[in-house]
Amino acid sequence: MKGDAIVLDGLTKRYGNREVVDRVSLSVRAGSVFGFLGPNGSGKSTTIKMLCGLVRPNAGKASVAGYDVETDADDVRRSIGYMAQGFALYRDLSVDENLEFYARAYGLGAAAQKRKQTVIDIVGIGPYRTYRGGDLSGGWQRRLALAAALIHNPPVVFLDEPTAGIDPVARRDLWDLLFRLTAEGKTFFVTTHYMDEAERCSSLAYIFEGKLLASGPPDEICALRAVNPDGTVRFAIATDDVMEVFRKVHDVPKLVDATIFGRDIHVVVDASLTPQELARQVGVDASRVSPIRPSLEDAFVALTRARNA
Ligand SMILES: Nc1ncnc2c1ncn2[C@@H]1O[C@H](COP(=O)(O)OP(=O)(O)OP(=O)(O)O)[C@@H](O)[C@H]1O
Ligand SMILES: [Mg+2]
Repeated sequence: MKGDAIVLDGLTKRYGNREVVDRVSLSVRAGSVFGFLGPNGSGKSTTIKMLCGLVRPNAGKASVAGYDVETDADDVRRSIGYMAQGFALYRDLSVDENLEFYARAYGLGAAAQKRKQTVIDIVGIGPYRTYRGGDLSGGWQRRLALAAALIHNPPVVFLDEPTAGIDPVARRDLWDLLFRLTAEGKTFFVTTHYMDEAERCSSLAYIFEGKLLASGPPDEICALRAVNPDGTVRFAIATDDVMEVFRKVHDVPKLVDATIFGRDIHVVVDASLTPQELARQVGVDASRVSPIRPSLEDAFVALTRARNA
């Protein structure tokens, strides 16, 4: 597949009188990992369900692998893998039996055994194939769910929070695996709340209360005007006493925004404020204040605040 694997054009879902997905338009290049981010309840899973043909849009259009999600629903289903939030595997069936179940569900017939072995090899779950799904650790359960989503070799795969609650090494392994598969041309549409994962995506979208606030490669999102308002600068203040300095930061007359990141405080202030003057006002040594570029988390915080302002 070349060009765009997924295209949304004004896609909208209403529940009651509320637009939980509100005129979202974006496109996802084939052979990439696309990150879909947004706070809880912002409409990520609902968007994925519309793209998988599980929920009917109220307005707008979308296509996946070149097929319209409403009029070509069967073609869409054949072309996609879907790993639902909270994953869908059978706890009482073994790894092998789970994959056989999905192979049957997709009508793979004679090809089933070969595909099963292929996906077992892809996710590396061979040593555990006789384990019951429920006895696998969280990381291996996710890999099994991914294997199930890949069983029919779909070109486009939707993964709804595939790494929620698994350890950092297992998360990294899973992402490395996704990139290996994109090299073969697969497209992944992935939701996550982890910023390190977002940083790795070729392109991202950020959705808030159903509305798309930004989309593009991570560095373009960080460079947006809304993230870097004219006449402001961003500093990190490193401190051993975060709460005390954070309190003082709020008395800085030229403060625009402040957020704690571990032992750093990221502040956005009027560009006329020098780092030395900022350091003096919050009572830290000038060496502890340094100009920074916004991280993705800074960017999402800024976009959300700008929306609420
Ligand atoms: N079937 C439904 N009926 C009514 N409201 C729904 C339904 N499904 C989802 N919603 C509402 O739509 C909004 C968006 O939900 P959605 O599950 O898409 O959010 P999300 O971005 O995936 O959140 P999370 O990060 O918590 O998974 C929420 O307010 C949710 O309660
Ligand atoms: Mg969700």
